[in-house]
Amino acid sequence: MDIKSAEEAKRRLSQVGIESAMADMAVKKMPQVFVFDELSSSNQWVVENLQLLSAHEMLCITDSQTCGRGRAGRDWCSPAASNIYMSFTITTDRVPEIASISLVIGLALVKSLSKMGIDGLALKWPNDVLLDSKKLAGVLIEAKNYNGRLVLVVGIGINVDMSAGINLQSELGWADLSAVGLSAADRNDIVARVYSEYEQLISQFLDKGFASLREEWERHDAFMGKSVKVIENNKVLCEGEESGIDDRGCLLIKTDAGVKAVHSGDVSLRIKHEN
Ligand code: BTN
Repeated sequence: MDIKSAEEAKRRLSQVGIESAMADMAVKKMPQVFVFDELSSSNQWVVENLQLLSAHEMLCITDSQTCGRGRAGRDWCSPAASNIYMSFTITTDRVPEIASISLVIGLALVKSLSKMGIDGLALKWPNDVLLDSKKLAGVLIEAKNYNGRLVLVVGIGINVDMSAGINLQSELGWADLSAVGLSAADRNDIVARVYSEYEQLISQFLDKGFASLREEWERHDAFMGKSVKVIENNKVLCEGEESGIDDRGCLLIKTDAGVKAVHSGDVSLRIKHEN
């Protein structure tokens, strides 16, 4: 490929563009990269195609999704040529602390985007990424058994340019990367940077455990010290002062009855507005 064609390929969402950006980022274990124009959901596609797993993990990116899935059964608005919808596998023989893996992914998002010069990023437990207090990215992890091994399918949605369609389902409101000067043409690069950062953090996580990443996660915690309530199935599970996380990634809430550790699941965290 000549230099001009290589540059053009880098701008479109493309397998060559992503692989070459990953090579630039010195990704150590290259995944198999699959790129599509449209899927129902990149997580769904990976789940349905686990037979393609080899010695290499799978990374699936699609330009649009017709049934994008969010956490807690919500939809994920997925217009074409705008945002990032990516899913990759983590195949493991160990049964890892899945809850803390989800925090590792959030941290990888914040670190990779910060390294692109973006300020104002923060994490909302367990793994929402906020930009100037509005939702920029979300993570959905699904666990599957395949040939006796545990496969985690990590789905990440990042708003890059939401002018084509607004997902109204976040109580926080939405942010996108076009507000900080990036565009849909940067998607290959962003995907590669996120994957590269994830690769470094997951290796630290597997060697040293989540405890080694806890303080770094807390430095980006959007709600630290704030008055919050934790909601599960529309019921308030507990309320009090958000006091960071423990070594397993559980959220710590200082309540009147002492400190409560909340496990990740389909719980949601809200700022408590005093009436
Ligand atoms: C959330 O609700 O915050 C999680 C959103 C996860 C969306 C991503 S987009 C790529 C992958 N495919 C899906 O269907 N969902 C995830």
